[in-house]
Amino acid sequence: MKPVLLTSLSFLMLSACTAGAADNSKDIYAEYCASCHGVGQQGGSAPSLFDDEWAHGSDLASIRENITQGIEAAGMPGFADGLSAAEIEDLVVYIKSGATSGVPAGENQQQSAGHTEDEASPALIPAIDKVDNIQAQLQVTDYITDLDEPWGIHFVGDDVLITEKKGTLKLAQKSDELVGGWIVSEISGIPAVNNGRQGGLLDVATDPDYAQNKWVYLTFSHPLEGTSGPSMTKLIRGKIANNQWTEEESLFQAQTEEYLDTGFHFGSRITFDDKGHIFFSIGDRGPKKQAQDRDRPNGKIHRINRDGSIPQDNPFLDAKYPTIYSYGNRNPQGLVWHPETGVLWETEHGPKGGDELNVIQSGVNYGWPEISYGINYNGTILTEHQALPGMAQPVSQWTPSIAACGLDVYTGDLFPQWKGRLLAGSLAFQSLRLIQVDGDKYVGEVEILKDKGRIRDVTTGPDGAIYVALPRKIVRLSPKN
Ligand code: HEC
Repeated sequence: MKPVLLTSLSFLMLSACTAGAADNSKDIYAEYCASCHGVGQQGGSAPSLFDDEWAHGSDLASIRENITQGIEAAGMPGFADGLSAAEIEDLVVYIKSGATSGVPAGENQQQSAGHTEDEASPALIPAIDKVDNIQAQLQVTDYITDLDEPWGIHFVGDDVLITEKKGTLKLAQKSDELVGGWIVSEISGIPAVNNGRQGGLLDVATDPDYAQNKWVYLTFSHPLEGTSGPSMTKLIRGKIANNQWTEEESLFQAQTEEYLDTGFHFGSRITFDDKGHIFFSIGDRGPKKQAQDRDRPNGKIHRINRDGSIPQDNPFLDAKYPTIYSYGNRNPQGLVWHPETGVLWETEHGPKGGDELNVIQSGVNYGWPEISYGINYNGTILTEHQALPGMAQPVSQWTPSIAACGLDVYTGDLFPQWKGRLLAGSLAFQSLRLIQVDGDKYVGEVEILKDKGRIRDVTTGPDGAIYVALPRKIVRLSPKN
């Protein structure tokens, strides 16, 4: 905890001494608000504060109150303990005037967050493979455009299955008539999702034996009724025939008493090992301590067989959810089984700081919220402990938080030296990280794509290129000729 706190405190003191109120507010915004409300003016996981559209009151008193007390059910933390009344007052003025004078769009996250790369932990290793300036050697081209918040992307041969957060599943097929064009079809009959806040249609994957059985797997924020209200992450599979979703089977659904009204931390990713198991993740859904409760499905990595049955070597066969494989996981939005080493890699969002790269093992407690390298969003202490007996340490952690989302193993031939490395997306830093691992050990990482937008998912394509889901499109990364 200490290094993190010291960094933020010394930074705040510095700004208070050297900068005027507006500059100070700009820095506080970058430090405490940008991770959710966005670095520029467009908003992030929470809406923009600079568009003069207010869901919870537009007058100064309401805005002051919302910052001070928070809006708990919406996932807006209160800053009464973290910021002084004067700082909050300055912020209110800054936000209200920001729409005209404010934050430049797309401002560099690391500068605006008051951190240099040197302060980030682990330190970014500038060049692996002695490749100077990797970003300059990459060709980035638009691949499939006109998408609305693609969340999961998955290749089936040359076709691409794409989930959009709002609740649509799309199938993109290369068009013979249109050179370089696509026929993008929406698959009808997908179940209703709760797409409020962080919820929606989430990950998509196909069966390891897809060629024979045609099963497609989906996770989504499942509402008990309609498209809002208490919800929980659910896993289903089905088949696509004539652009219709058919033969749907429910593989995992929580008990109704575990459904929660909060709109965040649904997870969720799907991956398969070579023994026919499915792994999928569910975030803590807000009530942190439930991640430690093995009688609840949230804050866990689950493992089941492809038909929904329970593998008999799962670690908690007597628990209410014998599907649980690991627990104490905050909000895992990256999960991939490494085909060469058999290691199950996971990335999860920390709170403010402490995003984690984990190696997931059967029955292990990853510690959230008892241990964390992060602190509360308002800067106050979340836990005294970064480590405790009986709780696994991350293999590596990111402070400040990168908002880790999307994870794959690079398995292509276009970048032969990158084979077997991890590709990790970042929402907040708008970057793609190439992480070198050795078995289950972390070696180092480098940013190979930056400032193109929030990265939600990443995958190796059948041609060996790297495909990345940005807010409105999928882009293709290949070596520059
Ligand atoms: C952990 C994420 C998170 C952080 C950090 C955060 N917010 Fe929020 N904030 C939210 C969410 C979620 C909402 C509710 C959005 C909704 O209701 O659609 C919200 C709502 C608000 C609102 C009300 C907006 C409206 O439309 O009426 C204000 C004002 C606000 N936040 C200010 C701030 C300020 C200032 C900071 C930094 C000091 C901050 N927030 C930090 C997540 C966050």
